[in-house]
Amino acid sequence: MKQTQAQWKTVWITGASSGIGLELARLFDDRADHVAVSARSSDKLVDLAANATNIHGYAVDVTDAEAVSACVSEVEDRGGNIDLAVLNAGAWALMSVDEFDLAAVRTGVEVNFMGVMNALNALLPRMLARGRGHIAIVASVAGYRGLPRSLAYGPTKAALINLAETLNTELAPRGIMVSVVNPGFVDTPMTRDNPFPMPGLIGARQAAEYIVSGLERGKFEIAFPRFFAAQMKLLRLLPNWLYFRAIGAFILKG
Ligand SMILES: NC(=O)c1ccc[n+]([C@@H]2O[C@H](COP(=O)([O-])OP(=O)(O)OC[C@H]3O[C@@H](n4cnc5c(N)ncnc54)[C@H](OP(=O)(O)O)[C@@H]3O)[C@@H](O)[C@H]2O)c1
Repeated sequence: MKQTQAQWKTVWITGASSGIGLELARLFDDRADHVAVSARSSDKLVDLAANATNIHGYAVDVTDAEAVSACVSEVEDRGGNIDLAVLNAGAWALMSVDEFDLAAVRTGVEVNFMGVMNALNALLPRMLARGRGHIAIVASVAGYRGLPRSLAYGPTKAALINLAETLNTELAPRGIMVSVVNPGFVDTPMTRDNPFPMPGLIGARQAAEYIVSGLERGKFEIAFPRFFAAQMKLLRLLPNWLYFRAIGAFILKG
């Protein structure tokens, strides 16, 4: 087992069948004894596990609370207590006000937000009883401020950032670490069809490396790539009138 600052025996990663989650699983393969990977695509999980040493597939839909609880039980029965959970499963849909689609909005809320809540429902009693553990929630820089055509996605990620802060206020004193991961643009199946320029785009492997490094250092917020994330963070400091003027100019340019 590779020597790292943080030692994890059992790691659970949701949304590990592609993109960032897949690369995270590969990085954790030589950092943990039992890497539990979840997603709906069981075939992809089987392939991933077949080409790894410590990776084990647990197919689950994160929108199904009962199935998520059963999955966590099974992971702990087979792999031992979960030391680190990376709640990464996500769904993205480009949507402007002209294309309002309630079903897609509901999917965003169910996968991105309730998916994390369903995992917390299963994890919190276990970690609280043990007084240890680390929960990492994958949000997005898109959660920093309201962005155009992001109405089925951005609000769910803003909620996750708030949720991580809320959790940290109560969990840190009880021995449980919380991290929130805020990626910029990452080249994955999620973003491949985006019809707009993606400044600061990085590969999924690099994104996973940023995440592992931040988790190993016990960071609360892991935002990357640094320059783009800093620019997005600056938007939070602008007064509303200036922010909307800047975004308006950006829309006109686009
Ligand atoms: N790519 C970016 O630019 C970017 C930027 C900021 C934040 N993020 C966030 O990073 C995370 C990973 O995204 P990605 O870019 O790696 O996208 P991706 O390649 O599309 O991966 C999404 C993962 O979520 C899983 N998933 C989706 N719905 C699910 C469900 N109902 N139940 C269980 N698993 C489900 C997918 O697996 P199945 O389809 O097999 O279930 C897949 O493994 C997401 O939370 C995303 O919002 C991405």
